[in-house]
Amino acid sequence: MIATTDQIDLNFVQPHFPGLQSKWAYFDNAGGSQILAGAIDKITEFLTHRNVQIGGTYDTSLAAAEALMAGRRAIQTLVNADRPEEIVFGHSTTALVQILANAMRSQFSPGDEIIISIGDHESNIGPWDRLREFGVEIKFWPIDKETQMPRLEDLEPLMTPRTRLVCVHHVSNILGQANPVAEYARFVHERRAKICVDGVAYAPHRAIDVTGWDVDYYVFSLYKCYGAHNAVMYGKYDLLSELDGQYHYFYGKDKVPGKLEPGNPNYELAYSATGIVEYLMSLGEHTGATGDARAKILAAYAAITRQEDMLTDRLLTYLRGRNDCRIIGPDSNSGSTRMPTISFKLDGRDSGAVVKAIEAHDIAIRFGDFHARRLVEYLGEDGDSGVIRVSMVHYNSAEQVERLCRALTDVTNNSVPA
Ligand SMILES: Cc1ncc(COP(=O)(O)O)c(C=O)c1O
Repeated sequence: MIATTDQIDLNFVQPHFPGLQSKWAYFDNAGGSQILAGAIDKITEFLTHRNVQIGGTYDTSLAAAEALMAGRRAIQTLVNADRPEEIVFGHSTTALVQILANAMRSQFSPGDEIIISIGDHESNIGPWDRLREFGVEIKFWPIDKETQMPRLEDLEPLMTPRTRLVCVHHVSNILGQANPVAEYARFVHERRAKICVDGVAYAPHRAIDVTGWDVDYYVFSLYKCYGAHNAVMYGKYDLLSELDGQYHYFYGKDKVPGKLEPGNPNYELAYSATGIVEYLMSLGEHTGATGDARAKILAAYAAITRQEDMLTDRLLTYLRGRNDCRIIGPDSNSGSTRMPTISFKLDGRDSGAVVKAIEAHDIAIRFGDFHARRLVEYLGEDGDSGVIRVSMVHYNSAEQVERLCRALTDVTNNSVPA
C-alpha cells in the first residue's frame, strides 16, 4: 500500500536547508544535495575564529587542529569506524580514489589483478584502470542484466590467487539498488583480496557501518550528503599504515592519515562535517531517539528511509503506470533496498528534450550517463541523450513528486514528441 503523505516531519527538516527556499523542486540530489545551515555555520565559525595553519603552538592554531579532529571524529561516528585516524579528507571521491590507487601502487606486481564492477561511476574505475601501465591486469565484473546487480557467481570465476583488490559500488548512481557489500567483503576476504567500495550513492540515504560490513576502503562525497564540497575515505588503520605516502618524504608511513592528505585537507570544510552529524543527531532526537550519537544517527536514517520509501513508491508507481516508460534499475523497492535515485527512458523521446521541458515547471532533474558511462553503454542506454534521472532525498515532499508526475504527463502530452 503506497503512503500518500510525508513520513518525516518536513517542518523540522526543511528549515535546516536554506537553499530549499527556492522556486525549484530539487530532484538532482545525487548530483549534489542542498547544504545544511549547520554545516555553513561551521565554515563561518572556522574562517572567523580559527583560520590559521595547524601545527603551531599558539592557541588559534591549536583550535584549528581541534576543528580538523572534530571533523574526523564526526565522520568516524557517522561511518562507525574504530578511530578518527581512519578518516581521510579530500576534495572529492574522484580525488580520493586516485590518491588511494597511487598509494597502493607499490603493493602491486606485474600480473597482479584488480577486479572492477562495470556498474561503477568512473571515479572507482579510472584510477585503477590506469594501473595497467604498471603491469596490473584489470578485469571487469559484469552486472547481471536481469537483477541489475553485481553477483558473486559472476565474481567467483574472475578471482584467482593473483587478485589483490575488488572495486565495487554500494549503490549505482544510475540503478539505485543497494548491493550486499558485507557479503562481497566476506567473499573477497576469504580469497585474500581487499575491497574498495564507492559509497557515494548510498551515504545520503542509509546508515553506514564500515565495521559491521568489514570493508577495507569506503569512499563518499559530503556535498551529496548535506555538507560542503569535499569527500571522505575510510580505510582500516593497518591498511592505511601500509600505503605509500602521498605527501612529503618526511611524512613517514605511520603518519596516518596526514600522509594521504597532500597539502592538508581544507580545514573549514572538514570542520563543517560536524554540522552534518549534529543535524542527523537532532533529527534522531526529534523522532524520539535517546542514547549515544550513533543511536540517534540510526534513528535519523530510519526516518529518512521511511520518507524516501514513500517518495520512491510514488514515483515508481507513476512510471510503471505509463505505457512508454522503461525504468533503468529495479522497478520496485524490496525491503527498503531501493534508493530514491530513479533513472528511466521514455520510448522514442530524447531524454535531454524531456528534461529541458520539465525545467519549465521549476523542477530540476537531469539526463545523460552521470559519469557511469561504461554502465550506460553496457546496458545499451546511451542513445537518445542517455537516461533521465530523478534523484530524491528525505527533504523532498510527496507534493513535489506529484508535481513532477503531472509535469511529465504534461510534457509528453504537449511539448516533447515521441
Ligand atoms: C556513485 C558515484 N561515485 C562517485 C562520484 C564522484 O564523486 P566526486 O564528484 O566527489 O568525485 C559520483 C558523483 O556523481 C557518484 O555518483
